[in-house]
Amino acid sequence: MAKDLKTLREDYKQMNKSCFILGASGETGKELLKEILQTQLYSKVTLIGRRELKFEDEAYKDVKQEVVDFEKLDEYSSAFQGHDVGFCCLGTTKAKSGEAGFIRVDHDYVLKSAQLAKAGGCQHFNLESSKGADKESSFLYLRVKGEVEAEVEEIEFDRLSIFRPAVLLVDREESRPLEWLTRKLMVPVSHLFPTSYSVPIPTLVKAMLHNAILGSDKKVDLLENKAIHTLGKVWETSS
Ligand SMILES: NC(=O)c1ccc[n+]([C@@H]2O[C@H](COP(=O)([O-])OP(=O)(O)OC[C@H]3O[C@@H](n4cnc5c(N)ncnc54)[C@H](OP(=O)(O)O)[C@@H]3O)[C@@H](O)[C@H]2O)c1
Repeated sequence: MAKDLKTLREDYKQMNKSCFILGASGETGKELLKEILQTQLYSKVTLIGRRELKFEDEAYKDVKQEVVDFEKLDEYSSAFQGHDVGFCCLGTTKAKSGEAGFIRVDHDYVLKSAQLAKAGGCQHFNLESSKGADKESSFLYLRVKGEVEAEVEEIEFDRLSIFRPAVLLVDREESRPLEWLTRKLMVPVSHLFPTSYSVPIPTLVKAMLHNAILGSDKKVDLLENKAIHTLGKVWETSS
């Protein structure tokens, strides 16, 4: 008989796994960190980022931080050593960083981090990509996402989980007018087709953790927006 979610969660905790998060200052990363600390799924949590983050809440007191220079990641290989599981929520936009800057972050930093993580012993790498990622796409954003997915796959982690969320529903701290407008337009669409074109960030991070504890006999799991909704909702109702 299949184990229930509570048992699976307890079994996973007993494994005393360690994890790292790339992009923990971002909207997905910070929600993921919050959920990981609430559920105490990992015995050690490390944030790898370009700046140290300040936390006031006691719950964050044991979180370790590694501040790295993403332009010289090879010099920071030790930051990537000894983590069982990695979550990559890094990303920027063309509007914010220009075309070259977007490729640098969403492709080069992600790929290099994944390579260092694998060399450091990471067994399960979780990559936040995007709905529509396609290395053949004529749209830069979708092409870069598709390319990096394919190249991270070539690293051959024991397990790679690729998440392809649609528009992230979030009240973003940073001002991004185009994204704000998309989210507003998305409100009626989300009511009509709740699992097709958008996903709330809390649902996404719950799906990431639910997927992690489920295990998989496949080396690569590809989770599209609908699957993200399903996994996230089940996790939510069982908590
Ligand atoms: N927005 C959407 O609707 C949507 C939909 C589908 C998929 N996605 C993808 O999901 C991922 C996460 O999105 P999000 O909205 O949660 O991200 P976000 O809030 O923009 O956060 C991005 C993270 O990446 C880091 N980062 C950005 N530029 C960097 C640089 N030059 N060097 C080092 N670190 C850098 C940020 O660190 P700092 O805080 O230091 O800047 C932050 O931790 C992205 O890959 C995005 O493309 C987004």
